[in-house]
Amino acid sequence: MKGLILAGGHGTRLRPITHTSNKHLIPLANKPMLFYSIETLKDAGITDVGIIVGHTPQRIQEIKDAVGDGSKLGIKVTYIEQDAPRGLAHAVKVAKDFLTTNNKDGKFVVHLGDNILKGGIKKYVEKFMDSDIDGLILLKNIQNPSRFGVAEIKDGKLIRLVEKPKIPPSDLAMVGIYMLNRHIFDSIERLKPSSRNEYEITEAVQGIIDSGKNVHHEIVDAEWWKDPGDPVGILEANRLLLDELKPSNKGLVEDGATIVGKVNIDTGTIIKKGASVKGPVVIGKNCVIGDNACLGPYTSIGDNTIIENAEIESSIVIGNSKINCRQRIVDSLIGGNVNISEFLGTPSTAIQLVVGEHSIIKV
Ligand code: TTP
Repeated sequence: MKGLILAGGHGTRLRPITHTSNKHLIPLANKPMLFYSIETLKDAGITDVGIIVGHTPQRIQEIKDAVGDGSKLGIKVTYIEQDAPRGLAHAVKVAKDFLTTNNKDGKFVVHLGDNILKGGIKKYVEKFMDSDIDGLILLKNIQNPSRFGVAEIKDGKLIRLVEKPKIPPSDLAMVGIYMLNRHIFDSIERLKPSSRNEYEITEAVQGIIDSGKNVHHEIVDAEWWKDPGDPVGILEANRLLLDELKPSNKGLVEDGATIVGKVNIDTGTIIKKGASVKGPVVIGKNCVIGDNACLGPYTSIGDNTIIENAEIESSIVIGNSKINCRQRIVDSLIGGNVNISEFLGTPSTAIQLVVGEHSIIKV
């Protein structure tokens, strides 16, 4: 069985981070978001994986640099370029050759590169493989499903899917993981762009239901499902993943530093005397957590970061940054190569900023 991960798109809700880097490489618990979907497919036995990459050379290259040929993640990767983010169904269409070549039973799984379903999909993939159905759609009960595709079920059967309905017909949101076969391509051919000018996968699946094909659903029992498309979602996913953190220390913790709870420290990192880390916290390679630095809980610090005289809680520092500001930073997503320091000019209550387009600052 083949898998397809969608890692194109605009990423507008994650600007300014996505002005300079790909949303799918934002680290969650210090691992690129995209790697979670790769692991989910691999865990379900799917190792022949296509990755849809977007339309700008830099974003495409970044993904290629991170994933390579897939061998270090235990998969074989084929990259498929999408000329523009024309919608999820369009992304599936451009992968038609990959998905149908050397695929005996013609079945495949489409996984949005920004979705994480705790516990994975192994049992659903097995069910799909052992059946002769044309599609298996995963649904999750959530409050306010209006920003997702929403399912209507009648007499235990999936009868209708609506994309982002103002008045949802149920509380069953479509998880961004779809098990499909070749019939989806005929349905995609018949699609017209939606009101937001995208080819919608929800409408494509509705198309195969309408043409009498056998599409089943499963209401997943996973503890959680996240599609971290904005900063709040990213921090929430980071928190949930850090809850699963396995503590380890490959760095150096000096006498006089305080470590409490689950903390993961990578190689070359020093936690200096006078620093305090309260887990769950993950700290990458070659960091210095210095005097008067107070980290956690629920915080991820990327490689090559120096933190002194600052408190950081429930946040992600992507990496290669320096923070020394005598402030308490909470619920923050801090991009790569950032310098946050104390303002030493006058008036002393002032702040000084050099900030890129679409930044969000609350002072
Ligand atoms: P979305 O989160 O719906 O869109 P987006 O990533 O462009 O973000 P935003 O809404 O903030 O602008 O996309 C869901 C997933 O599908 C995501 O992993 C990106 C991917 N995708 C594609 O690969 N191709 C596409 O044409 C689109 C729209 C999304």
